[in-house]
Amino acid sequence: MQIQPRVFSGMQPTGSLHLGNYLGAMVNWIEMQKTHDCIYCVVDLHAITVWQDPVELKSAIRQVTATYIAAGLDPKKSILFNQSQVSAHAELAWVFNCVARLGWLNRMTQFKEKAGKDREQASVGLYAYPNLMAADILAYRATHVPVGEDQKQHLELARDIAQKFNNDFGKEIVEHGFADGIFFPQPEPVITGPATRVMSLRDGSKKMSKSDPSDLSRINIMDDADTIAKKIQKAKTDPEPLPADKDGFAGRPEAENLVGIYAALTGEPVEKVLGDYGGQQFSAFKKALAEVATEKVGRIGDEAKRLMDDPAEIDRVLADGSARARVIAAPIMDKVKDIVGFVRS
Ligand code: AMP
Ligand code: TRP
Repeated sequence: MQIQPRVFSGMQPTGSLHLGNYLGAMVNWIEMQKTHDCIYCVVDLHAITVWQDPVELKSAIRQVTATYIAAGLDPKKSILFNQSQVSAHAELAWVFNCVARLGWLNRMTQFKEKAGKDREQASVGLYAYPNLMAADILAYRATHVPVGEDQKQHLELARDIAQKFNNDFGKEIVEHGFADGIFFPQPEPVITGPATRVMSLRDGSKKMSKSDPSDLSRINIMDDADTIAKKIQKAKTDPEPLPADKDGFAGRPEAENLVGIYAALTGEPVEKVLGDYGGQQFSAFKKALAEVATEKVGRIGDEAKRLMDDPAEIDRVLADGSARARVIAAPIMDKVKDIVGFVRS
């Protein structure tokens, strides 16, 4: 049971995916398929840490899966599945609930943001959410985790949990045949590209998010071409023309965001985009941006909608992916039980 390079990542089936999800994470997922064994999960257990309508949840799980496939994730090559179909996630999360310390979780900024002022009313699951995320990754002993910037702190916690487990059970880990005393690897965050933090189209200081009440703040993968063009046209900017170089972004987060999105969508460096559009008014640039965005996002959305017409086929992909995921996670979970000292038959 040697540790092999393996990629794991996931997204929550809460609302529709947006340009931030695609550029911040999924572009790297697609790229890493070429070089790595990859496991991509629809994290439905994470979704219910805040209330989800059961009928909508089921549909959102299928919609995220359809979007994964439409964006270019290949269910034959990579494993695509939903978390609740593989029991190792919940089982390992419980063990990690007993490894992680309250003090570690108390530092998580995402919990503070999501719980808001009325923290007493937040679910226990929302608080323990990062432990489940660590379990997702480590149930496969995954080594690389492509995510957006906002997940950095959770990844650091996963690394701390892996290390504490290895330390706490060091003697048992060696006794069970891992001579170097390392059972869990330290999973590496992969946070790269020109758009690791895509900002709201309405406010350059807030990240683009599914939960923003204004739909104008984000481009959803499922938006049609007219909607995408309208949202870009209405995107907040300032009265100055586009800057000629990156230094000109100082104090202009909206300009930086739109140029970053353009660069990410076209694969061009930000310098090249500024070389082409620096000194021009936003109106011309926005037209060009709307064109590339409708082309890329529109194509993915159309394909996802087509796939959604056959939910039985999506469910079949998830069943197949879950079976393949179980094959990897089950022996790892068995070892965890041995190491911790559980009796199993
Ligand atoms: P979530 O929508 O919270 O399930 O996030 C799924 C993935 O998308 C994670 O890897 C996030 O880091 C990434 N992500 C979400 N919002 C953004 C954003 N505005 N910019 C870049 N990446 C994002
Ligand atoms: N917490 C991540 C998010 O909201 C989703 C997620 C759950 C995840 N488990 C994961 C990402 C494991 C990477 C690896 O974006």
